[in-house]
Amino acid sequence: MNPSDLESILRSEPRVWLVTGVAGFIGSNLLETLLQLDQRVVGLDNFATGHRRNLEEVRSGVTPAQWTRLRFVEGDIRVLEDCRDACKGVDHVLHQAALGSVPRSIADPIMSNAANVDGFLNMLVAARDAGVRSFTYAASSSTYGDHPALPKLEDSIGRLLSPYAVTKYVNELYAEVFARCYGFQATGLRYFNVFGKRQDPNGAYAAVIPCWIAAMIQGRDVFINGDGESSRDFCFVDNVVQANLLAALAGTEARGQVYNVAVGGRTTLGQLFGALRETLADNGIRYDRAPIHRDFRSGDVRHSQADIGKARALLGYAPAFDLASGIRAAMPWYLGFLEKDAPACP
Ligand SMILES: NC(=O)c1ccc[n+]([C@@H]2O[C@H](COP(=O)([O-])OP(=O)(O)OC[C@H]3O[C@@H](n4cnc5c(N)ncnc54)[C@H](O)[C@@H]3O)[C@@H](O)[C@H]2O)c1
Repeated sequence: MNPSDLESILRSEPRVWLVTGVAGFIGSNLLETLLQLDQRVVGLDNFATGHRRNLEEVRSGVTPAQWTRLRFVEGDIRVLEDCRDACKGVDHVLHQAALGSVPRSIADPIMSNAANVDGFLNMLVAARDAGVRSFTYAASSSTYGDHPALPKLEDSIGRLLSPYAVTKYVNELYAEVFARCYGFQATGLRYFNVFGKRQDPNGAYAAVIPCWIAAMIQGRDVFINGDGESSRDFCFVDNVVQANLLAALAGTEARGQVYNVAVGGRTTLGQLFGALRETLADNGIRYDRAPIHRDFRSGDVRHSQADIGKARALLGYAPAFDLASGIRAAMPWYLGFLEKDAPACP
């Protein structure tokens, strides 16, 4: 399917979507797009890492009539009944709820496993029993572990490097087995480092882009874990939203598989530092300090770059943003947010 057809298809036949993790970064971006397209949405979240302010912000970006099409369920994917409640009457599930972050999973693997594995299994069972039309879930590039090949192809994974990666890989295994045992197809989207508005710059487990933007705006030191040559395929959140909608509407031949979702680019942390500094300068904010290098972080992969050929071919995925245009699009949000808030990422 062509991404440019999504809007007319959805408007001509509005559907009911369940977005789990709806108060989080990616979930709230999915919610906003779906409501703007006049879809009905059930949102499930327990605010473990998500925020009510994200929902309020979406509310201010849609019309009052669109906002009434959201049914919010404050609930926990670790509780099967909450999942069953959320799945009632739903056509398409976009399962985003999980505890993200490699270091968080190393600090508390039991907690990550409960949300990411037990919660995932509950969602599969609830969605299967509710007879939904499609199930799309957030997988992760961490599944590639230490596999040395670049760019990453879906079929070649290495040894996993963190409990978080285990949980995300177990999601894929369960999805495969649900297809085999119950004929229930679940499509996995292996996101590579996603960034954009509403990605939380606060807390010990903040992602690198919001963390550094916050530090630069507030004139604090920026820390680079390692030598700055580690590389990532940074992916703007609008690309991720597109991939989710395409996966949900994909034909049977494309269902039940895993896909890389990124841009296919490769940016070192040192280059990222420069790109953020430049975009801030374009917005009138100068940051003159040099970054401070510290130890590599345990569990992190060294290089990450996606081959997005499979998603292009089978889903019609066509990322509309690269790193530079994504940073430009996200910057006004960070500038506005950080005026109100004082983040404390490590
Ligand atoms: N952001 C990235 O770069 C990235 C990369 C790869 C994969 N992912 C995956 O994408 C998904 C969304 O990530 P995000 O960056 O938006 O993170 P986020 O923390 O902003 O959002 C996750 C949401 O899930 C909710 N949640 C957590 N545990 C829950 C539970 N037990 N019950 C109900 N809700 C629960 C949180 O409150 C939060 O709102 C996650 O599955 C994550 O693992 C993200």
